[in-house]
Amino acid sequence: MTNYQFTDKIVLITGAGSGIGAETARAFAKAGAAIILSDINETNGKGITKELKDAGANAVFRKTDVSNYSDILELFSWIQEQFGRLDIAINNAGIGGPWAKLADLDVNDYHTVIAVNQTSVFYCMQEEIKMMLAQGSGSIVNLSSASGLQGFSNASAYCASKHAVIGLTKSAAVEYARKNIRVNAVCPAFTKSPLVDKLLSVHEDMEEALRRNIPMRRYGEPEDVANSILWLCADQSSFITGLALPVDGGFIAGK
Ligand SMILES: NC(=O)c1ccc[n+]([C@@H]2O[C@H](COP(=O)([O-])OP(=O)(O)OC[C@H]3O[C@@H](n4cnc5c(N)ncnc54)[C@H](O)[C@@H]3O)[C@@H](O)[C@H]2O)c1
Repeated sequence: MTNYQFTDKIVLITGAGSGIGAETARAFAKAGAAIILSDINETNGKGITKELKDAGANAVFRKTDVSNYSDILELFSWIQEQFGRLDIAINNAGIGGPWAKLADLDVNDYHTVIAVNQTSVFYCMQEEIKMMLAQGSGSIVNLSSASGLQGFSNASAYCASKHAVIGLTKSAAVEYARKNIRVNAVCPAFTKSPLVDKLLSVHEDMEEALRRNIPMRRYGEPEDVANSILWLCADQSSFITGLALPVDGGFIAGK
Protein backbone atom coordinates (compact mmCIF):
# COMPACT_ATOMS: atom_id res chain seq x y z
CA MET A 1 0.00 0.00 0.00
CA THR A 2 1.49 3.34 -1.00
CA ASN A 3 0.65 6.97 -0.34
CA TYR A 4 1.43 8.13 -3.87
CA GLN A 5 -1.31 9.89 -5.82
CA PHE A 6 -1.81 9.29 -9.53
CA THR A 7 -5.29 10.74 -9.78
CA ASP A 8 -6.53 10.64 -13.40
CA LYS A 9 -3.09 9.68 -14.75
CA ILE A 10 -3.35 7.33 -17.74
CA VAL A 11 -1.21 4.24 -17.07
CA LEU A 12 -0.46 1.35 -19.45
CA ILE A 13 0.76 -1.96 -18.02
CA THR A 14 1.73 -4.82 -20.34
CA GLY A 15 1.50 -8.35 -18.94
CA ALA A 16 -1.01 -7.06 -16.39
CA GLY A 17 -2.92 -10.34 -16.10
CA SER A 18 -0.61 -11.97 -13.56
CA GLY A 19 2.09 -11.58 -10.91
CA ILE A 20 3.97 -8.28 -10.79
CA GLY A 21 1.88 -6.66 -13.56
CA ALA A 22 -1.42 -7.47 -11.81
CA GLU A 23 -0.13 -6.19 -8.46
CA THR A 24 1.15 -3.01 -10.11
CA ALA A 25 -2.29 -2.48 -11.66
CA ARG A 26 -3.88 -2.88 -8.21
CA ALA A 27 -1.44 -0.36 -6.69
CA PHE A 28 -2.05 2.25 -9.43
CA ALA A 29 -5.80 1.71 -9.08
CA LYS A 30 -5.62 2.41 -5.34
CA ALA A 31 -3.63 5.56 -6.14
CA GLY A 32 -6.41 6.90 -8.38
CA ALA A 33 -5.00 6.21 -11.87
CA ALA A 34 -6.93 5.17 -14.98
CA ILE A 35 -5.35 1.89 -16.02
CA ILE A 36 -5.02 0.20 -19.40
CA LEU A 37 -4.30 -3.45 -18.69
CA SER A 38 -2.82 -5.41 -21.55
CA ASP A 39 -1.90 -9.09 -21.77
CA ILE A 40 -1.77 -11.95 -24.26
CA ASN A 41 -3.87 -13.96 -21.78
CA GLU A 42 -7.37 -12.58 -22.21
CA THR A 43 -8.98 -14.57 -19.37
CA ASN A 44 -6.47 -13.40 -16.75
CA GLY A 45 -6.35 -9.84 -18.07
CA LYS A 46 -10.12 -9.48 -18.09
CA GLY A 47 -10.28 -11.06 -14.61
CA ILE A 48 -7.93 -8.50 -13.04
CA THR A 49 -9.68 -5.67 -14.91
CA LYS A 50 -13.06 -6.78 -13.51
CA GLU A 51 -11.58 -6.98 -10.00
CA LEU A 52 -10.33 -3.37 -10.29
CA LYS A 53 -13.57 -2.07 -11.80
CA ASP A 54 -15.63 -3.81 -9.10
CA ALA A 55 -13.51 -1.94 -6.55
CA GLY A 56 -14.42 1.35 -8.27
CA ALA A 57 -11.32 1.89 -10.42
CA ASN A 58 -11.21 3.18 -13.97
CA ALA A 59 -9.71 0.16 -15.78
CA VAL A 60 -9.89 -1.27 -19.31
CA PHE A 61 -8.41 -4.39 -20.86
CA ARG A 62 -6.84 -4.67 -24.30
CA LYS A 63 -5.51 -8.01 -25.54
CA THR A 64 -2.00 -7.60 -27.01
CA ASP A 65 0.84 -9.94 -27.90
CA VAL A 66 3.87 -7.73 -27.25
CA SER A 67 6.04 -9.85 -29.55
CA ASN A 68 3.78 -8.90 -32.46
CA TYR A 69 4.60 -5.47 -33.94
CA SER A 70 1.21 -4.92 -35.56
CA ASP A 71 -0.55 -5.82 -32.28
CA ILE A 72 1.53 -3.11 -30.59
CA LEU A 73 0.77 -0.49 -33.24
CA GLU A 74 -2.93 -1.30 -32.85
CA LEU A 75 -2.71 -0.99 -29.06
CA PHE A 76 -1.16 2.48 -29.25
CA SER A 77 -3.47 3.82 -31.92
CA TRP A 78 -6.38 2.58 -29.76
CA ILE A 79 -4.89 4.39 -26.70
CA GLN A 80 -4.49 7.57 -28.77
CA GLU A 81 -8.10 7.31 -29.94
CA GLN A 82 -9.61 6.49 -26.53
CA PHE A 83 -7.47 8.60 -24.19
CA GLY A 84 -5.43 11.00 -26.35
CA ARG A 85 -2.46 10.72 -23.99
CA LEU A 86 -0.32 8.30 -21.95
CA ASP A 87 1.27 9.51 -18.71
CA ILE A 88 2.93 6.32 -17.47
CA ALA A 89 3.96 3.07 -19.17
CA ILE A 90 5.09 -0.11 -17.43
CA ASN A 91 6.69 -2.50 -19.92
CA ASN A 92 6.31 -5.64 -17.84
CA ALA A 93 5.23 -8.56 -20.06
CA GLY A 94 7.84 -11.29 -20.04
CA ILE A 95 8.58 -15.00 -20.12
CA GLY A 96 11.27 -17.15 -18.51
CA GLY A 97 12.05 -19.39 -21.47
CA PRO A 98 13.45 -22.91 -21.23
CA TRP A 99 15.93 -23.92 -18.53
CA ALA A 100 18.92 -25.07 -20.62
CA LYS A 101 22.61 -24.45 -21.11
CA LEU A 102 23.52 -22.15 -24.00
CA ALA A 103 24.78 -24.90 -26.34
CA ASP A 104 21.59 -26.91 -25.80
CA LEU A 105 19.15 -24.03 -26.21
CA ASP A 106 16.88 -24.36 -29.25
CA VAL A 107 17.48 -21.31 -31.47
CA ASN A 108 13.73 -20.78 -31.89
CA ASP A 109 13.34 -20.61 -28.10
CA TYR A 110 16.17 -18.06 -28.00
CA HIS A 111 14.37 -15.87 -30.56
CA THR A 112 11.05 -16.17 -28.70
CA VAL A 113 12.56 -14.99 -25.40
CA ILE A 114 14.29 -12.07 -27.14
CA ALA A 115 11.07 -11.12 -28.97
CA VAL A 116 8.85 -11.15 -25.86
CA ASN A 117 11.28 -9.72 -23.29
CA GLN A 118 13.50 -7.39 -25.33
CA THR A 119 12.24 -6.39 -28.78
CA SER A 120 8.79 -5.73 -27.31
CA VAL A 121 10.30 -3.13 -24.96
CA PHE A 122 11.85 -1.35 -27.96
CA TYR A 123 8.55 -1.48 -29.89
CA CYS A 124 6.53 -0.24 -26.93
CA MET A 125 8.99 2.51 -25.96
CA GLN A 126 8.96 3.89 -29.53
CA GLU A 127 5.21 4.39 -29.39
CA GLU A 128 5.14 5.51 -25.75
CA ILE A 129 7.86 8.13 -26.30
CA LYS A 130 6.11 9.51 -29.40
CA MET A 131 2.97 10.10 -27.34
CA MET A 132 4.94 11.50 -24.38
CA LEU A 133 6.92 13.88 -26.63
CA ALA A 134 3.66 15.21 -28.07
CA GLN A 135 2.24 15.93 -24.60
CA GLY A 136 5.57 17.09 -23.11
CA SER A 137 5.82 14.65 -20.20
CA GLY A 138 5.89 11.00 -19.23
CA SER A 139 7.43 8.25 -17.17
CA ILE A 140 8.39 4.75 -18.28
CA VAL A 141 9.44 1.79 -16.13
CA ASN A 142 10.81 -1.33 -17.80
CA LEU A 143 10.97 -4.73 -16.14
CA SER A 144 14.53 -5.95 -16.23
CA SER A 145 15.78 -8.42 -13.61
CA ALA A 146 18.73 -9.37 -11.44
CA SER A 147 19.43 -11.38 -14.61
CA GLY A 148 19.96 -8.02 -16.31
CA LEU A 149 22.84 -7.29 -13.94
CA GLN A 150 24.63 -10.62 -13.83
CA GLY A 151 24.78 -13.99 -15.57
CA PHE A 152 22.76 -17.04 -14.50
CA SER A 153 23.41 -20.61 -15.49
CA ASN A 154 20.71 -22.17 -17.73
CA ALA A 155 19.17 -18.81 -18.56
CA SER A 156 21.35 -17.23 -21.28
CA ALA A 157 18.49 -15.96 -23.47
CA TYR A 158 16.63 -14.55 -20.47
CA CYS A 159 19.82 -12.87 -19.17
CA ALA A 160 20.63 -11.46 -22.61
CA SER A 161 17.12 -10.02 -22.96
CA LYS A 162 17.16 -8.45 -19.49
CA HIS A 163 20.66 -6.94 -19.98
CA ALA A 164 19.36 -5.41 -23.22
CA VAL A 165 16.36 -3.91 -21.41
CA ILE A 166 18.80 -1.98 -19.21
CA GLY A 167 20.66 -0.75 -22.31
CA LEU A 168 17.42 0.44 -23.89
CA THR A 169 16.40 2.09 -20.59
CA LYS A 170 19.66 4.01 -20.15
CA SER A 171 19.82 5.15 -23.78
CA ALA A 172 16.24 6.40 -23.78
CA ALA A 173 16.77 8.09 -20.40
CA VAL A 174 19.71 10.08 -21.77
CA GLU A 175 18.01 10.87 -25.08
CA TYR A 176 14.80 12.24 -23.52
CA ALA A 177 16.09 13.68 -20.21
CA ARG A 178 15.48 17.26 -21.41
CA LYS A 179 12.03 16.41 -22.75
CA ASN A 180 10.51 15.77 -19.31
CA ILE A 181 10.38 12.02 -19.95
CA ARG A 182 11.97 9.74 -17.36
CA VAL A 183 12.90 6.14 -18.15
CA ASN A 184 13.91 3.68 -15.42
CA ALA A 185 14.08 -0.06 -14.90
CA VAL A 186 13.46 -2.34 -11.94
CA CYS A 187 15.52 -5.48 -11.47
CA PRO A 188 13.60 -7.92 -9.29
CA ALA A 189 14.90 -11.29 -8.16
CA PHE A 190 13.00 -14.32 -6.90
CA THR A 191 9.59 -12.71 -6.68
CA LYS A 192 6.71 -15.09 -5.94
CA SER A 193 4.70 -15.12 -9.15
CA PRO A 194 3.48 -17.80 -11.60
CA LEU A 195 6.75 -17.30 -13.56
CA VAL A 196 8.90 -18.27 -10.57
CA ASP A 197 6.42 -20.89 -9.24
CA LYS A 198 6.71 -22.69 -12.60
CA LEU A 199 10.50 -22.85 -12.30
CA LEU A 200 10.41 -24.01 -8.67
CA SER A 201 7.80 -26.69 -9.39
CA VAL A 202 10.12 -28.34 -11.93
CA HIS A 203 13.22 -28.10 -9.70
CA GLU A 204 12.04 -29.06 -6.20
CA ASP A 205 15.31 -28.56 -4.32
CA MET A 206 15.82 -25.13 -5.87
CA GLU A 207 13.47 -23.15 -3.61
CA GLU A 208 15.58 -23.52 -0.48
CA ALA A 209 18.90 -23.27 -2.35
CA LEU A 210 17.87 -19.95 -3.88
CA ARG A 211 16.53 -18.63 -0.58
CA ARG A 212 19.98 -19.18 0.97
CA ASN A 213 21.40 -16.83 -1.70
CA ILE A 214 19.11 -13.95 -0.72
CA PRO A 215 20.56 -11.88 2.16
CA MET A 216 17.04 -11.18 3.51
CA ARG A 217 16.32 -14.94 3.33
CA ARG A 218 12.89 -14.46 1.79
CA TYR A 219 11.37 -14.39 -1.65
CA GLY A 220 10.00 -11.08 -2.90
CA GLU A 221 6.27 -10.46 -3.19
CA PRO A 222 4.79 -8.85 -6.32
CA GLU A 223 3.80 -5.97 -4.02
CA ASP A 224 7.51 -5.27 -3.26
CA VAL A 225 8.12 -4.69 -6.96
CA ALA A 226 4.88 -2.76 -7.49
CA ASN A 227 5.82 -0.35 -4.68
CA SER A 228 9.19 0.35 -6.33
CA ILE A 229 7.51 0.96 -9.68
CA LEU A 230 5.07 3.45 -8.17
CA TRP A 231 7.90 5.29 -6.45
CA LEU A 232 9.84 5.54 -9.74
CA CYS A 233 6.75 7.02 -11.43
CA ALA A 234 5.93 9.45 -8.63
CA ASP A 235 7.01 13.10 -8.42
CA GLN A 236 9.10 12.10 -5.35
CA SER A 237 11.65 10.56 -7.76
CA SER A 238 11.56 13.39 -10.30
CA PHE A 239 15.40 13.70 -10.51
CA ILE A 240 15.89 9.97 -11.17
CA THR A 241 16.25 8.66 -14.70
CA GLY A 242 18.27 5.84 -16.27
CA LEU A 243 18.29 3.84 -13.03
CA ALA A 244 18.32 0.02 -12.97
CA LEU A 245 17.00 -0.56 -9.46
CA PRO A 246 17.54 -3.95 -7.81
CA VAL A 247 14.45 -5.08 -5.86
CA ASP A 248 15.95 -8.26 -4.51
CA GLY A 249 16.41 -8.47 -0.72
CA GLY A 250 20.11 -7.65 -1.15
CA PHE A 251 20.87 -10.39 -3.70
CA ILE A 252 22.91 -8.24 -6.11
CA ALA A 253 24.67 -6.37 -3.29
CA GLY A 254 25.87 -9.71 -1.92
CA LYS A 255 27.46 -10.82 -5.21
N1 LIG B 1 9.08 -13.04 -10.68
C1 LIG B 1 10.37 -12.76 -10.64
O1 LIG B 1 11.13 -13.23 -9.77
C2 LIG B 1 10.97 -11.83 -11.65
C3 LIG B 1 12.32 -11.51 -11.50
C4 LIG B 1 12.90 -10.65 -12.41
C5 LIG B 1 12.16 -10.12 -13.43
N2 LIG B 1 10.85 -10.45 -13.58
C6 LIG B 1 10.14 -9.88 -14.71
O2 LIG B 1 8.94 -9.28 -14.29
C7 LIG B 1 7.98 -9.33 -15.34
C8 LIG B 1 6.68 -9.91 -14.81
O3 LIG B 1 6.95 -11.24 -14.40
P1 LIG B 1 6.06 -12.05 -13.37
O4 LIG B 1 6.99 -12.69 -12.42
O5 LIG B 1 4.94 -11.22 -12.87
O6 LIG B 1 5.54 -13.22 -14.34
P2 LIG B 1 4.07 -13.74 -14.70
O7 LIG B 1 4.28 -14.95 -15.52
O8 LIG B 1 3.25 -13.85 -13.45
O9 LIG B 1 3.46 -12.54 -15.57
C9 LIG B 1 3.89 -12.27 -16.88
C10 LIG B 1 2.69 -11.79 -17.68
O10 LIG B 1 3.16 -11.49 -19.01
C11 LIG B 1 2.21 -12.01 -19.93
N3 LIG B 1 2.83 -12.28 -21.22
C12 LIG B 1 3.69 -13.28 -21.54
N4 LIG B 1 3.99 -13.23 -22.85
C13 LIG B 1 3.31 -12.17 -23.38
C14 LIG B 1 3.20 -11.61 -24.68
N5 LIG B 1 3.85 -12.14 -25.72
N6 LIG B 1 2.42 -10.53 -24.83
C15 LIG B 1 1.75 -9.99 -23.79
N7 LIG B 1 1.79 -10.49 -22.54
C16 LIG B 1 2.57 -11.57 -22.35
C17 LIG B 1 1.69 -13.30 -19.28
O11 LIG B 1 0.45 -13.71 -19.83
C18 LIG B 1 1.59 -12.88 -17.81
O12 LIG B 1 0.34 -12.35 -17.51
C19 LIG B 1 8.63 -10.14 -16.46
O13 LIG B 1 9.17 -9.27 -17.42
C20 LIG B 1 9.72 -10.91 -15.74
O14 LIG B 1 10.78 -11.27 -16.60
C21 LIG B 1 10.24 -11.30 -12.71
